[in-house]
Amino acid sequence: MTTPLQTTFVPADADSIAEIEGRVAVFLDPEGAMDPLARRVNRLTRGALARLAESDAFRRMKPGEGHALSMPQGVRAEAVLVVKLPKKPSEEEARKAGAAIARFNASVPLTVLLGARPLPALLSGILMRAYAFDAYRKREEDKPEPNRALSVMVNDAEAAEAAAGAVVAVAEGVFFTRDLVSEPANVLTTTEFADRLEALRDLGLEVEVLDEDALEELGMRTLLAVSRGSETPARVVVMQWKGGGDEKPLALVGKGVVFDTGGISIKPSGGMEEMTMDMGGAGVVAGAMKALAMRKAKANVVGLVGLVENMPDGRAQRPGDVVKSMKGDTVEVINTDAEGRLVLADVLWYAQDRFEPAAMIDLATLTGAVIIALGHENAGIFANDDAIADALLAAAKAEGEGAWRLPLGPAYDKKLKSRVADMANVGGRDAGSITAAQFLQRFVKKETPWVHIDIAGVAYRKDDTDFAPKGATGWGVRTLDRLVRDRYER
Ligand code: BES
Ligand code: MN
Ligand code: ZN
Repeated sequence: MTTPLQTTFVPADADSIAEIEGRVAVFLDPEGAMDPLARRVNRLTRGALARLAESDAFRRMKPGEGHALSMPQGVRAEAVLVVKLPKKPSEEEARKAGAAIARFNASVPLTVLLGARPLPALLSGILMRAYAFDAYRKREEDKPEPNRALSVMVNDAEAAEAAAGAVVAVAEGVFFTRDLVSEPANVLTTTEFADRLEALRDLGLEVEVLDEDALEELGMRTLLAVSRGSETPARVVVMQWKGGGDEKPLALVGKGVVFDTGGISIKPSGGMEEMTMDMGGAGVVAGAMKALAMRKAKANVVGLVGLVENMPDGRAQRPGDVVKSMKGDTVEVINTDAEGRLVLADVLWYAQDRFEPAAMIDLATLTGAVIIALGHENAGIFANDDAIADALLAAAKAEGEGAWRLPLGPAYDKKLKSRVADMANVGGRDAGSITAAQFLQRFVKKETPWVHIDIAGVAYRKDDTDFAPKGATGWGVRTLDRLVRDRYER
């Protein structure tokens, strides 16, 4: 519903600062040293910045935080945000500063006096916070104050323009994910989801939609079993980005349960409306594919999403049912609410069977247990390969997206014993996120480096963070984009 803020770059011109309308953001070194643009603002405001630099308020501010001067004398702007930031900020400090600027950017145009400071992390911070999902608010006064056009005054406008391209591409990807996760399930049905993915063809992605006949033909019976109770049909969508010659692709796999009632093992009604975000994994895969295509990444990446709805009905699967996966292993469905792993089992197998990927990463709002373990600050990471796990954790850290590795092991796997089938779909209350990951690992070939990311706690948040307004966060799009850049791009 939202596209990243309209951003323009203008060459630094201290003389024009007095006449800038709207709001202005300017930077002050922690020691109070001023660049030429800050010096000009200081002169025009008769020393307001110098006074702030010597104040206790400024001393208490952390790098990346801002202090607003409203209706300052000597300039036309209605407010000036003074942001504390070193000349060579860390990415984290720069993103924080960006978030502070985005919060300051409301209802009037904003000019950021960046000068020679590095742009990408700061712009990313601004764009991440400049998002609102207000598609269904009819009354103007109910909508959040819109972010207005952004103009950035820089020493080298051409270089800034070039650097901004990739940042905006990734922001578009994040916003796509947030839009998908924010949509209610009566709008974002499986077929509507598939339609929105097909539209990505315009960006040069190859998109295929597998319908129920095709899934039946492939033997994806654990995925189809979840979908049986729903009126909206199962779909698997395959998105290929071919930017990397003939190398084997990285495969991204997403859980796309457009609504999770729990099925016959129905969930309690309190809070059930949140399960409209149970397609979050598929949303992140879609957003990452969009970002890679928009910035024309020099890598081969294939995104696969399993789209189903988990509903109770006369045709729905029941506890005790035994279903056969595409791999051939049978599963006893003890709990129909442990449906995500049934969907992923078949899509993971299909991804390896068809693409022999160089590595495979799945994302899923898989377990409530991961929220008990890690809260909303970190996604749970599981892997069969230390090198790719370390690379993913490093990418997440660099992007400021929380991630924490949890263990796998044969003792946990034992919990999945079934009295009738090759395995049960649940392993009991203890270590619920780990036994879920063990279930997935049964559908991962030994030779495939694989990471599973449980995003149940981080895909959607009830409070604002530095990087996202409350609601859908798009957690993972930036991490995956960074991982591709660091590890898979030529
Ligand atoms: N979609 C849920 C997990 C979830 C919970 C996501 C809270 C986001 C927020 C998943 O399908 C589920 O229901 N998992 C069960 C598994 C259990 C039945 C073994 C759970 O976590 O309770
Ligand atoms: Mn469930
Ligand atoms: Zn679910």
